[in-house]
Amino acid sequence: MTYLGIDLGTSGLRALLVAENGTVIGAAQSAYPVANPHSGWSEQDPADWVAACKVAIGELQQTYPEAMAQLAAIGTAGQMHGATLLDEHGAVLRPCILWNDTRSSKEAAALDAKPDFHTLSGNIVFPGFTAPKLAWVKANEPDIFERVATVLLPKDYLSFWLTGERVSDMSDSAGTSWLDVGARNWSDSLLEQSGMTRAQMPRLVEGSEVAAPVCAKRCAELGLPEGVVVVGGAGDNAAAACGIGALEEGQGFVSLGTSGVLLAGKSGYAPLPASAVHTFCHAVPDRWYQMGVILSATDSLNWLARTLKTPAGELAGLLDGPLAAPGTVNFLPYLSGERTPHNDSTIRGALLGLHHATGDRELVQAVFEGVAFALRENLDALRSTGTELTSLMAIGGGSRSHYWLELIATVLDLPLDLPEDGENGAAMGAARLAICGASGAAPEEVMTQPAISRRINPNSDLTKAYAEAYQAYRAVYPAIKAL
Ligand code: XUL
Repeated sequence: MTYLGIDLGTSGLRALLVAENGTVIGAAQSAYPVANPHSGWSEQDPADWVAACKVAIGELQQTYPEAMAQLAAIGTAGQMHGATLLDEHGAVLRPCILWNDTRSSKEAAALDAKPDFHTLSGNIVFPGFTAPKLAWVKANEPDIFERVATVLLPKDYLSFWLTGERVSDMSDSAGTSWLDVGARNWSDSLLEQSGMTRAQMPRLVEGSEVAAPVCAKRCAELGLPEGVVVVGGAGDNAAAACGIGALEEGQGFVSLGTSGVLLAGKSGYAPLPASAVHTFCHAVPDRWYQMGVILSATDSLNWLARTLKTPAGELAGLLDGPLAAPGTVNFLPYLSGERTPHNDSTIRGALLGLHHATGDRELVQAVFEGVAFALRENLDALRSTGTELTSLMAIGGGSRSHYWLELIATVLDLPLDLPEDGENGAAMGAARLAICGASGAAPEEVMTQPAISRRINPNSDLTKAYAEAYQAYRAVYPAIKAL
């Protein structure tokens, strides 16, 4: 038997074909655009996800026909929080409003002020979450709001296209602000307080449970064997945690993607919304996870790359020597506001301490350090909830820079482990959930830790200097906030 993990990312879809024992057979990907029709808006056409899925599955069919003929189950993972609005016939009503869209910050603040949201959802209602997006649609596009029969998260739309059924999993649903995250069920009270009903929500399953079979029409269209099932799947961060075996207390990762994430597995539900830490259901039963999220990690480097008209990889290559002492330029990575620890959608980034000798290299160093310090604030926020971490896996595109990793290890004062195959994170987690769902294997047997290619230790000669520089960094936010 073989299994497929699909990661519906923000910039493209990745499909990973794995064997029964979880080893990779092959992968295929296909990109799609993000539309920014107005400042702060970020949208995607769900038809582009479907087209990318067809391309990726088609490529796997061509390259690995025998393995694809053995396909038993598909797991979907992906970007969280997006609002895909369907009418009663399953037609998409408007482009999906994505996780990094900030148009509904007013609506988010209004919902966040209602005490039940912190108590029941366990989280701040961040502007990127789903409930405020629907409040925005209600206020600004009432004709569309009237016709909303179901709200689906992005990866659940893909599962709907595959199966014809409206189903979601706990980990992704936890990011809507409508889930009672402790009880792992929709909250009628939270739904009612945002003008929604349970009838508009998909059926809930655990990520490792079967959601529905792929419908006959799609099996024929995609050339899939009859009987292939789709499991609940997961939001991308829970899926990545499954992919690198972070289920238990003390296990976690730092992810350097478009956004930056510091995640820790939790065996119980222990939210602390005041810390701006996210507390979400994990993708397997009876487990949760906590994470701090910064909105611009590699996106900060991408901004610099656009500004200096130099590819990001080339800029990162300017810092390929041993870790240097903290630079004199300060960068605050709030290019689209910040989640943890500030929950501030209006704050913007800053560059401080420029001088005549500041050039490309110094700016890259400032960006790397600003992101590292922002992640340190996330670690402190996680610790304020009682979470303990003694090492972290490092994943995501930014983990290709050894300098950045050594810097982050030093700023966090924690060793970072680099998995041999860090690229497959969420897609691997989705494939592992498919294995659990179809075979009935226990999650802890399937979600093991991958082989580690290297451990990057904090540079003990520089931890003190970076601890001082971190204190200086922390002083800047209140100062720019006051401007
Ligand atoms: C998590 C979050 C991001 C997206 C990006 O809360 O908003 O990590 O899931 O893919």
